[in-house]
Amino acid sequence: MLLVLDAPEIASEAQPGQFVMVRCGEQLLRRPISVHAAFGGKMALLFRIAGSGTRWLAGVQEGAWLDILGPLGTGYSLSSDKGRAVLVAGGIGIAPLCFLAARLAVSSDVVLVHGTRSESELYRVPDGLRRLMPEIGVLDGVEWVYVTDDGSVGICGTALQAALPCIEEAVRVYLCGPHAMCLAANEFVCDEGEITVQFGTPSISPGVHERLMSGEVSLEVRMGCGVGACYACSIPTREGRKKVCKDGPVFRFGDIIWEEICT
Ligand SMILES: Cc1cc2nc3c(=O)[nH]c(=O)nc-3n(C[C@H](O)[C@H](O)[C@H](O)COP(=O)(O)OP(=O)(O)OC[C@H]3O[C@@H](n4cnc5c(N)ncnc54)[C@H](O)[C@@H]3O)c2cc1C
Ligand code: FES
Repeated sequence: MLLVLDAPEIASEAQPGQFVMVRCGEQLLRRPISVHAAFGGKMALLFRIAGSGTRWLAGVQEGAWLDILGPLGTGYSLSSDKGRAVLVAGGIGIAPLCFLAARLAVSSDVVLVHGTRSESELYRVPDGLRRLMPEIGVLDGVEWVYVTDDGSVGICGTALQAALPCIEEAVRVYLCGPHAMCLAANEFVCDEGEITVQFGTPSISPGVHERLMSGEVSLEVRMGCGVGACYACSIPTREGRKKVCKDGPVFRFGDIIWEEICT
């Protein structure tokens, strides 16, 4: 589902990787949703219906007012380095990475790998979004790599498998996706590289491990307040416990103790 909102204050401040907390009807807790794009006083949110909150949000009619807090959290770092950036999105992880790709594409070579279960879940920039936010057209200059689990379109495999050969050439790596994707990336990094690459470069150089470790990842965890007051989103990192809503949601990939988050 895509929502485009008139939100001039949030849109003017929002950085890729930041999120907003949205009040969803009668739900006690607001729900965190990444900023999918923010240009010209408008903000787009892209979300999948996961439960009652997002179902309510999907039913919002044109002209409605929404109660939104943001932009919140610490987003991706926008290095001035002009080298190739590889963005790896699993499923709805495409939401923040599109915004990042749009920002990076202005000055860098960007590859955006999007993996889903099948074709119906793959993201293509909607015409409606192009009409309301012409700036998003910059995404046409991005190299899109589509990957599906069932091979219904693009490469058959996972986003990570497809991304590894691209990362060989990259100077920066950014990720956002389900825990399973992050766990697979962590396993790959820790085991120094046993992953099946069914296409492209047959052997992966050690530099890929380093680039993944120093890459940035946005985390999706359950949140309470979204502003650092309740500890609901606390995660273990190599520098102690951190709050995803305040210290993140974007972290250096190698700083997170993945095994403890995902068990
Ligand atoms: C920083 C951040 C950014 C996010 N950005 C997006 C986005 O751009 N688009 C999008 O579709 N979703 C995003 N999410 C996930 C989104 O917040 C949840 O899907 C949403 O809160 C679910 O609310 P609900 O009331 O619909 O479902 P609920 O009834 O609360 O839950 C339904 C199911 O979803 C699971 N779930 C709930 N919250 C989360 C969560 N935070 N992470 C993982 N699983 C969850 C529950 O365990 C349950 O199985 C983001 C989460 C975070 C923390
Ligand atoms: S959600 Fe309350 S501290 Fe992060």
